[in-house]
Amino acid sequence: MSAAAIGGALALAVALLLVGKPEELKWDPRDEGPSTIDVSTYPAEQQKRYRMFEAKCVKCHPVSRAVNSDFDATQWKRYMKKMIRRPNSGTNEEQAAEIYEFLKSYASRGGPRSLGKSSR
Ligand code: HEC
Repeated sequence: MSAAAIGGALALAVALLLVGKPEELKWDPRDEGPSTIDVSTYPAEQQKRYRMFEAKCVKCHPVSRAVNSDFDATQWKRYMKKMIRRPNSGTNEEQAAEIYEFLKSYASRGGPRSLGKSSR
């Protein structure tokens, strides 16, 4: 292979890397906080939604980013709308609505402020 061909191949590889790169995710202090919510006192239906939240909201950033967001119901509603517009969110509108129901109830219990010493 000539030097030019190697150079060309390299340039192509770099270009592919740049194009294929997913949306840049900046580090966020919330990511370092607790990653679980103790849902043992939540109704069974909310516990089910929590499992969906754990499965869906860990795809692009640690689930702790959401766990440690002190959002109210309105802010969660806004985020979930933004979220389903993301390509590859892997979450449809019905699933987003279920997760929103859980997050709303989490917020009403104090959100991250409810994660006292008792939670892991
Ligand atoms: C397709 C990728 C993707 C998925 C899936 C995803 N997020 Fe995000 N999320 C991001 C990106 C990128 C950011 C940072 C940019 C931003 O804030 O919009 C972010 C930021 C956040 C923030 C911080 C927003 C702010 O304004 O402070 C919260 C809270 C959040 N996500 C919650 C969730 C929840 C809840 C779910 C599951 C329903 C979820 N994310 C699933 C990509 C994703």
